[in-house]
Amino acid sequence: MKIHGSHFLITGANRGIGLAVAQMAAKEGAHLYLVMRQNDQSLLDNLKKMGAPNVTIFVSDFSKRSSIDDLIKKLTSVPVDMVFNNAGQLTGGLLEDQSLDDIYNMFQVNTLSLVHLTKGLLPGMIQRGRGKIINNSSVSAFMHFPCATTYASSKASVVAFTQSLGAELEGTGVTTLCLITPGIKTRMFDEISIKYAKNLRMPLDSISPEHYASLIKEAIIRDKKVLFPRGQTAAGLFLARHFPLLFHKMIKGYFKR
Ligand SMILES: NC(=O)c1ccc[n+]([C@@H]2O[C@H](COP(=O)([O-])OP(=O)(O)OC[C@H]3O[C@@H](n4cnc5c(N)ncnc54)[C@H](OP(=O)(O)O)[C@@H]3O)[C@@H](O)[C@H]2O)c1
Repeated sequence: MKIHGSHFLITGANRGIGLAVAQMAAKEGAHLYLVMRQNDQSLLDNLKKMGAPNVTIFVSDFSKRSSIDDLIKKLTSVPVDMVFNNAGQLTGGLLEDQSLDDIYNMFQVNTLSLVHLTKGLLPGMIQRGRGKIINNSSVSAFMHFPCATTYASSKASVVAFTQSLGAELEGTGVTTLCLITPGIKTRMFDEISIKYAKNLRMPLDSISPEHYASLIKEAIIRDKKVLFPRGQTAAGLFLARHFPLLFHKMIKGYFKR
């Protein structure tokens, strides 16, 4: 699908992968609708300078169901044809050590808000016969590390949701793209070593958000259904998906209770 001239909505757009994708889409000439928890007007000028014909910010806190309802209402007159469900939170550590409030919040943001917003925007897309839903999952959806119980299950759910929806939308002109995101050097990536370090110590690979945004651009233009990681992470992912017992044997050495 062409990015130039599209009406591109991005959640979690104020930093990390979301911001890098906003910058990529601005350079491609997309109309931008940025969703964030706190209004950051300083982003507007830069993105316009980069090539976005217009940029609009919407404030929404995805930990609140009513805030997503309000956002969907505000978007009624916007002909969104590309939505990047990207906002996310990380939980981690031994299950008994994780805060229950954090777990509820994380599932709400990573999974339920993504389903909620997609459901809200879908009727318009189907009516216009055009659209793409891009959902940010993770290698954790398949690589089931200890300490990642809750986060990994939120991201596995995103994969299942996206694949089911993609099948349901065949012939409507609306397509899905599921990102099996590897390590990307963002604030969340830095949080991994803090939240998991007590029990899991393993070398982590990462690429820059800007590089990842360029891979996402390619996947959008080529209408890929899934964007898998490349390089060393691809080998680990292959092992986890096809030889899970071997994968678990391999990572056992990095974990201690
Ligand atoms: N970085 C990685 O290695 C990696 C790997 C696999 C998947 N991912 C996924 O990529 C996505 C983006 O993460 P990132 O790496 O760019 O991390 P990040 O820099 O921490 O960005 C997370 C974004 O989500 C937003 N967010 C968090 N809670 C929210 C809430 N309640 N309501 C609305 N927005 C909220 C944050 O907004 P605030 O600034 O207001 O907190 C921020 O914009 C996430 O879904 C993550 O799970 C990342």
